[in-house]
Amino acid sequence: MQGNFSYHNPTKLYFGDESLNYLKDELSNFGPVVLLNYGSGSVKRNGIYDQVVAILNEAGKTVVENPGVMSNPTLEKLREGIQIARDNNVDFILALGGGSVCDYSKAVAASVFYEGDYWDKFWLKQEQPDAGQKILPVGCILTMAGTGSEMNAGTVITDAEHTFKVGHVFDDRLMPKFSILNPRFTMTVPDNQMKAGIYDIMNHIFEQYFSDFDDNTSDYISEGLMRGLIVASRAAVKDSQDYEARSNIMWTATWALNTLIGLGKREDWMVHMIGHSVGAWTHAPHGYCLAAVSMAYYRRAMKAGLPKFVRFAKNVWGVNADGKTDEQIAEEGLQALKNWMLKIGLPLTISELGATPEMIPGITGGTICYPAGYLDLKPEDITAILQESM
Ligand code: NZQ
Ligand code: ZN
Repeated sequence: MQGNFSYHNPTKLYFGDESLNYLKDELSNFGPVVLLNYGSGSVKRNGIYDQVVAILNEAGKTVVENPGVMSNPTLEKLREGIQIARDNNVDFILALGGGSVCDYSKAVAASVFYEGDYWDKFWLKQEQPDAGQKILPVGCILTMAGTGSEMNAGTVITDAEHTFKVGHVFDDRLMPKFSILNPRFTMTVPDNQMKAGIYDIMNHIFEQYFSDFDDNTSDYISEGLMRGLIVASRAAVKDSQDYEARSNIMWTATWALNTLIGLGKREDWMVHMIGHSVGAWTHAPHGYCLAAVSMAYYRRAMKAGLPKFVRFAKNVWGVNADGKTDEQIAEEGLQALKNWMLKIGLPLTISELGATPEMIPGITGGTICYPAGYLDLKPEDITAILQESM
């Protein structure tokens, strides 16, 4: 295993269909004024909002509400949340929703006490908050599985005015203090969002797995996560109310992006860079944007990282290697991935998401490029990938 690293994940998790029972105790660790961030109304329709507000009231909290955190949260909405937090002297932020609400809550938490231009410092310059800067604590009640935002310090924000979506991974200070993961809460997620979440999880694993050539414990953990996700995704697509499947998907999502399987790895993340730009232009669900560019990307990566793609074919998809060349084995692995994506109903083209040929220069321009994984892509390669994905 290569590399030097430290590992510390401070987020406390409560998992299972009784996990909300632990909210009241957790709240006692934080101050009296709670900013409750949530999305466009699903938590009111499915009753989770009422349960959470009842607990906040029992705990004696003053609740400041900030509804309307949209999917793929915008810079404009971030500015609004920061202002609300400042105006109300908020002590604690509670995120109630999917990855968008969790990301957004961390973004507000990082920026409330920063007096300069937070967008420029944290997202454009990718800097961390200065030592000693006050940061609000965040807790998450997750209602949708996919991003891993519940146990990481990632925050992805869209500057809608400039059609630019960018993520920043903060340091440990922005990790949620706790996250409540009740798989039953995910049962009302619309079908397309459930599938987008499933592919987001799979792609987070790919982004870490498809890099380097050394033997690394992280890759064995990744293979186990992928195999479990394939089983659970098939069951959930057949029956979205299958608790066993939904609980395994939720738990896999957390482990796919809580830094564990990236240890000792250079990692890739170029499918995410392209996918974020596709998302800024099409507003399609994040996981769909990743799925739609994946085949064109991994066909290229396969040539440069052949041994890992052979291993992927054998260990994840059970491809029989007898009498075949490495190229044939790796190609069968990618075909198995494509078949799985088709079977669960994921989009394989960006035109299905509303992208047009006229958008390609803009999507290319918004894609952050760097040497990553097995490839060192230039803007012209991104354009070619997008054209192949039309
Ligand atoms: O607006 P609401 O009412 O909350 O509805 C949401 C939204 O429309 C709905 N939903 C969520 N839980 C539901 C539900 N509907 C019914 N019942 C429920 N229980 O689903 C829709 C999508 O929610 P959203 O939070 O946007 O999805 P997701 O969890 O995929 O988050 C996407 C955002 O996370 C970022 C993405 O770029 C995107 O902005 N990411 C964050 C990452 C991180 N923190 O590490 C990594 C990821 O790669 C990703 O980039
Ligand atoms: Zn993702």
